[in-house]
Amino acid sequence: MTLWGGVFSQPTDDAVRRLNDSLRFDWRLYDADITGSLAWADALSQAGVLTPAERDRIAAGLERVRAEFMEGTFAAAPGDEDIHTAVERRLAELIGPVAGKLHTGRSRNDQVATDLLLWLLSAQRRIVDHVCALGAVLLRQAERHLDTAMPGYTHFQPAQPITAAHWWLNHFWPLTRDVERLERAADAWRARCPLGSGALAGTPYPIDRQALAERLGFTAPSHNSLDAVADRDHAAEFLFCLSLIGVHLSRLAEDLIVFANPSFGFIRLDERYSTGSSLMPQKRNPDPLELARGKSARLIGHLAGLLVALKGLPSGYNKDLQEDKEPLFDAVDTLDALFPPVIGLVNTLVLVPERMRAALDPAMLATDLADYFVTRGVPFREAHALAGRAVKLAEARGVSLSELSAEDLATISDQTGDDVARVFDFDAAIARRAAFGGAGETEAQLARAQAWLARRRIAAPE
Ligand code: ARG
Repeated sequence: MTLWGGVFSQPTDDAVRRLNDSLRFDWRLYDADITGSLAWADALSQAGVLTPAERDRIAAGLERVRAEFMEGTFAAAPGDEDIHTAVERRLAELIGPVAGKLHTGRSRNDQVATDLLLWLLSAQRRIVDHVCALGAVLLRQAERHLDTAMPGYTHFQPAQPITAAHWWLNHFWPLTRDVERLERAADAWRARCPLGSGALAGTPYPIDRQALAERLGFTAPSHNSLDAVADRDHAAEFLFCLSLIGVHLSRLAEDLIVFANPSFGFIRLDERYSTGSSLMPQKRNPDPLELARGKSARLIGHLAGLLVALKGLPSGYNKDLQEDKEPLFDAVDTLDALFPPVIGLVNTLVLVPERMRAALDPAMLATDLADYFVTRGVPFREAHALAGRAVKLAEARGVSLSELSAEDLATISDQTGDDVARVFDFDAAIARRAAFGGAGETEAQLARAQAWLARRRIAAPE
C-alpha cells in the first residue's frame, strides 16, 4: 500500500522498496514533519481549502501522531516509505478520510525540504551550545594561567615565549568564529521557507506563503519553487560548519596529545579522561583526544560526499537528495558524542607550569637580542645576523645564549652594552609584546573573550 499506487498495476519489487525506503533513518524528522503539516493545514484553511473543522481534526490527529513518536509507541507499517508517508498513513488511521485532504497542493518535495531545514535549525542551536560550553572551559583554564610562561612554536620548533593563557585563548577564538558562522548561516536559511513550492512548479491554491513561512519561524518564503525543492545548500553549508568545528577540535586535541606526552609533560589528564593499555602497565592514553582528531575526518568526508551527490543533479527534485540525511544525522550525532568528553577533559586537565617553564630556552630570546641591537640603531636585517652569530657562538661554546660573556658578545658587535643581560628574561620578553592581540596583553584579551561569551550567557560546568 503506497500513497501513489493509482497508475501502477504491479507492486514494487521488494529489493527496490528496501533500497528506496528511508523511514529507517528519516523518522528523526517526525517533529519537523508534524510541525510543517500543522502549519500547512492552517495555510490550507486560510486559503479556503479546508474548513476550520477539518483543519482542527487534522491538527488534533497530527498531535496524536507526534505523541506516539515521543512516547515510542508509533508502529511503522509495511507500506511506510518515509517519515512523510508514515505520518500521513497513521493520521488516516486515526481520523479517517479527512486526513487525505492534508496533502492538497503540497508535495513530499517541498515537505522534505522544509522538514530538513527545520531540523537543521534546531540542530544548529544545539551545536552552538556545545561550542560555547567548550569555549567556557577554555577560558577557565586561561584564567588560571595568565602568568604561566611556555614555549610558543612555529613549524613545531621552539620559537618565542608566550603565556599559557595566550595559548589557551588561541583555541578559543576559532570557536567564536564557528558560532558566528553558524548563526549567519542560520539567518540565511530562515530567509527561504520552501513550503508552498509544490512538487516543482508551485502550489495552485492561494496560499499566503509569507504568513506560512513566519508561522514556521522563517522570515520569508523561497523565491523559486523549482530551486526550493532541489536546494540543499544549507545541508552542505551546515556540514562545512561542522567540519570546520571538527578541524578546530582536532587541532586542540593535537596540541593536548603532544603536551600530555611525558617528554613534554606540560599537562596531566584526569584519570577519568584517559585510558590504559592492555599490555603496557605504564600507559596513560589520551583516547578521547585521538577520537576528536579522528572523527573530524569523518565530518569532512560527509561534506565531500554531499557535495559530490549534488553536483550533477538536473533541476528539480531527484531521489539522490534522499542521501542528504544520513551524513547530516551522523555529523550531528558525532559532535553530540564528542563535545561532552572533550569539555570534561579540558575542564579537568592540569597544567604543569614548571615543565612549561623548563622547556624555555634562552635561544627563544634571539629575536629579543636582535631587537636589543635595533634599539641601539642597528637596522633589523643586520641585527638579525648579529643575533644569529651569537646563537652560533653559544652553540660552539656549549653554553646557552644567556651565558655568553660580555667579552664574547663584544666580539660580535660593539653595540653591546651592560644592559644586554636584561634581554634574557622570558617574562619581560612576553610583556614587551603588548600591542593588541600579542602575548603581552593576555589579560585584556581574556577580558574580551569573556565579554564575547557573556553575551551568550554561557557558564562553564563545575
Ligand atoms: N524520502 C524522500 C527524501 O528524503 C522524500 C521526498 C520524496 N519525493 C518523491 N517525489 N519521491 O528525499
